[in-house]
Amino acid sequence: MGKASLPFSKDRRSELPRFCDCEKDGVHRLVHRRLRLRLNPFPMQSKAKFLGHPLHPILIAFPLGLLPVAVLFDCIHLGTGNGLWAQIAYYLIAVGVLGGLLAALFGTIDWLAIPAGTRAKRIGSLHGAINVAVMALFALSWWLRRADPTKPGLLPIVLGIVALGLAGVAGWLGGELIYRLSVGVDEGAHLDASNSLTHRSARD
Ligand code: HEM
Repeated sequence: MGKASLPFSKDRRSELPRFCDCEKDGVHRLVHRRLRLRLNPFPMQSKAKFLGHPLHPILIAFPLGLLPVAVLFDCIHLGTGNGLWAQIAYYLIAVGVLGGLLAALFGTIDWLAIPAGTRAKRIGSLHGAINVAVMALFALSWWLRRADPTKPGLLPIVLGIVALGLAGVAGWLGGELIYRLSVGVDEGAHLDASNSLTHRSARD
């Protein structure tokens, strides 16, 4: 099973050697942290799972599915002058933002479990902050068109387009968290790992 198969299973992690007790200065702490991460590269399994898989990547389908379509319908409204497209966008934004807030809750649970001082923590913070800004911009866009959703005007549509661009950046950071920094990946994951529903370690 290649590099990922390390001799330390979960219940033996307490046996991880402490190199010395003088974790006083920064250099020592840095060395200790790097060594611990090298000995156990899967320190952050998802804490919020459904049927064995992280909930956050499941729930992000709502904002990342509905909000881009809302922006598309706004653009069709601009192109055709037909208010029906803007009205549909109005409802898509409402459900997209509510779905995003729910997704953000479970993303935050996973982010809180990421060890401090790691690149994953920094990328996670940036990812979360940008996504909160994205939700705020779409919420403002929705709020500004409340009076007559069929005639939103230009500002709410521009806010949606800007927010979509930011969501793209945040989405890339989210992918970096999983595919590059292994956040949310099961310990010992490999191509022949057992079924997640067995609750057995992926290493077994
Ligand atoms: C609406 C808001 C959000 C969206 C659309 C979103 C989107 C994403 C995407 C696209 C990924 C990568 C998933 C994949 O490639 O399968 C991801 C992963 C992740 N996001 Fe978010 N995110 C949002 C809010 C947040 C917030 C507020 C946090 C907290 C800081 C957060 C923390 C994470 C974490 C820790 C991961 C790694 C996978 C996991 O452990 O679940 N996300 N997110």
